[in-house]
Amino acid sequence: MDDKKIMFSAVQPSGIPTIGNYVGAIKNWVDFQDEFNCIFSIADLHTLTVKQEPSELRARSLELLALYIACGLDPEKCILFVQSHVHEHAELTWILNTITYPGELSRMTQFKDKSARHAENVNMGLMDYPVLMASDILLYNAHLVPVGADQKQHLEIARDLAIRFNNRYSPTFVVPEPYIPKVGAKVMSLSDPTKKMSKSDDNLNGFISMNDDTDTIIRKFKRAVTDSDNKIVYDVENKAGISNLMTIYSLFTGLSLESIENEFSDKGYGDFKLKVGEAVASGLKPITDKKNDLLKNKDYLIKVMADGREKASRIAMRTLKKVYRKVGLVLPE
Ligand code: TYM
Repeated sequence: MDDKKIMFSAVQPSGIPTIGNYVGAIKNWVDFQDEFNCIFSIADLHTLTVKQEPSELRARSLELLALYIACGLDPEKCILFVQSHVHEHAELTWILNTITYPGELSRMTQFKDKSARHAENVNMGLMDYPVLMASDILLYNAHLVPVGADQKQHLEIARDLAIRFNNRYSPTFVVPEPYIPKVGAKVMSLSDPTKKMSKSDDNLNGFISMNDDTDTIIRKFKRAVTDSDNKIVYDVENKAGISNLMTIYSLFTGLSLESIENEFSDKGYGDFKLKVGEAVASGLKPITDKKNDLLKNKDYLIKVMADGREKASRIAMRTLKKVYRKVGLVLPE
């Protein structure tokens, strides 16, 4: 291994990723590939905390791998793997569970939100979700974890558990730092700009998926909820919808919020929404095309998965052995 630091992150294959997942996470990962030893996972075990259709989950996992590559992640440079392929994630979760308190999990915002949304299926996995996430990160001794703002609390638990384990036994884990982008850390729903854009939203108009075609994208932006004063001005508090569209436009064009205000100072919402839709559609088209091409070559994707699994397993096995030894488990010969 060289002396580069380690970066780890993951997306759940719980739906087709949205432009929120893209600008809040995956797009930033691509820029770090040379600076860090990067490890990116498909968090399929996390997905099981909410009811899934098994055949769809399987297909989405492969599709997410294709999307990672289509977005610019290079399997020659980073480790891309499926979480359930490396059994150490579940095993480290058990060990970390023994130093985690129920109170710190039950007060997690995402646990409370998801319990309310899935009241018929509030399971232990849903509550334990941040511990599995901590295991993902700590197994690889990741220094930096690039995520959107909604994962900040979970990163704090991962840090707390690393520190707690290191204090109780002896220094073992690197304490990870979150990397949350300044712009795009929380892209909001198009149909309710007070809510985060989510790939599992029942309202399809709320999000732009990384599968949407140009017409769908333009139609969804046309319907985006805004206000009635028809001025393109960035003001999150009073104009959440327009501010969200400005952020998206800025991320897809590279223009600053100020220059967007200037460009549209004499235009109305209709013109602006069309421009945002066009910018997003042209940004996503090459990615969607590449992903669809990759999906035609399943053998290649399966090989990338197998390579990723082998590399990730090697690191995970080493860490887990160390942990087992420190807590006093007898290692088999
Ligand atoms: P997930 O699948 O919900 O989201 C993947 C990534 O996208 C970010 N994100 C957003 N960013 C900006 N605006 C939004 N509207 C938006 N929605 C989602 C998320 O913050 C995340 O970075 N538990 C994680 C997956 C995971 C993980 C990990 C992440 C599993 N293990 C270890 C980091 C490290 C999740 O559910 O992400």
